[in-house]
Amino acid sequence: MRRLTYPARIERRNGGCAETRLLDAMSAIVDRPAGRRPQGSADPLARLAQADMARVDALIHERMTSEVPVIPQLADHLVSAGGKRLRPLVAIAGGRILGGGGDGCLKLAAAVEFIHTATLLHDDVVDGSRLRRGKVAAHLIWGGASSVLVGDFLFARAFELMVDTGSMAALRILARASSVIAEGEVLQLTRAHDLNLDQDTYLEIIGAKTAELFAAAAEAGGISAGARPEQAAALRAYGMNLGLAFQLADDVLDYGGESGALGKNAGDDFREGKATLPLLLAIARSGPREAAFWERAVGRLEQTEADFRRAREIVIGVGALEATLDRAAEYAEAAKAALAGLSGGEWKAALETLADFSVSRTA
Ligand code: IPE
Ligand code: IPE
Ligand code: MG
Ligand code: MG
Repeated sequence: MRRLTYPARIERRNGGCAETRLLDAMSAIVDRPAGRRPQGSADPLARLAQADMARVDALIHERMTSEVPVIPQLADHLVSAGGKRLRPLVAIAGGRILGGGGDGCLKLAAAVEFIHTATLLHDDVVDGSRLRRGKVAAHLIWGGASSVLVGDFLFARAFELMVDTGSMAALRILARASSVIAEGEVLQLTRAHDLNLDQDTYLEIIGAKTAELFAAAAEAGGISAGARPEQAAALRAYGMNLGLAFQLADDVLDYGGESGALGKNAGDDFREGKATLPLLLAIARSGPREAAFWERAVGRLEQTEADFRRAREIVIGVGALEATLDRAAEYAEAAKAALAGLSGGEWKAALETLADFSVSRTA
């Protein structure tokens, strides 16, 4: 199997020590005191991009129409439930920070949200998740087959939008991201229930399934504004590190979050036996004492109703959530550092605050 290369890339970008730091953290037993991580927000970026996002939303609604009724019905079930719209916001910021942000950028932003929406439809079928954006998951209403096929439709619509921009460079970036996301999801599937999953592979998985789209969004936005190569690389590095922080936090919220706020059920990863960093750390730290529990509940996926509560107690008790959030905070710092060479005033500041939000978020 071809190995994806995210940890290596991140290692280069962070001067060769990010991977080492991650491995160190895996074996660290004592957590540092909580509460010193910066509190971020997506609001400054959402405020700056308000007018642009209104146009992106209009484009999304315009382009999800179809003569086949189940397509707009199913798509609208998810789209009208909202979501944070972070990826189109990042695409818009990538353009605006370089003084662009025109029609092409908005189309790319809509395409990015279409790709994201398609992956959510597919992901909920694969993960067997029952709740998405506070609503019953689409596959429980229309069935798995319709959900997957409407996901395919949204992917195709994303490509139509990209072609409309006439930018081969942006098309190349987002086409590549689409195949990498699928690789990440498949790689994750083949490594589910693996109590011995190594951290490099975990990082490869989250880099591919989540961070790649943030990276592509930022870079494509920049390209639409005529980014020079070093500017495009900076935006890509920002998105990649932001995306890694975002997925690490997502994996924390699956144990430590609250379903009402998340709009999806906490515990899905555990019930599915997904080997995420909080779980891997908890297995390593709880040692022989809990080995039989993990082997049964995750390795063989023989679970009772009470098992998630027990898993959550162990995961929190051994400090695995705090340690994972510390990793996430390092990536958020790397995201902010990647912007150092760019000017861009309030857009840059908003992206920095968004990087902190990717870690401090509760939804
Ligand atoms: C959910 O992404 C999928 C992950 C990569 C964790 P978001 O948390 O951005 O989902 P919405 O769009 O806000 O619902
Ligand atoms: C995100 O991973 C996968 C996608 C690329 C859609 P998760 O499986 O953790 O996402 P959620 O928790 O279902 O949103
Ligand atoms: Mg999922
Ligand atoms: Mg998740």
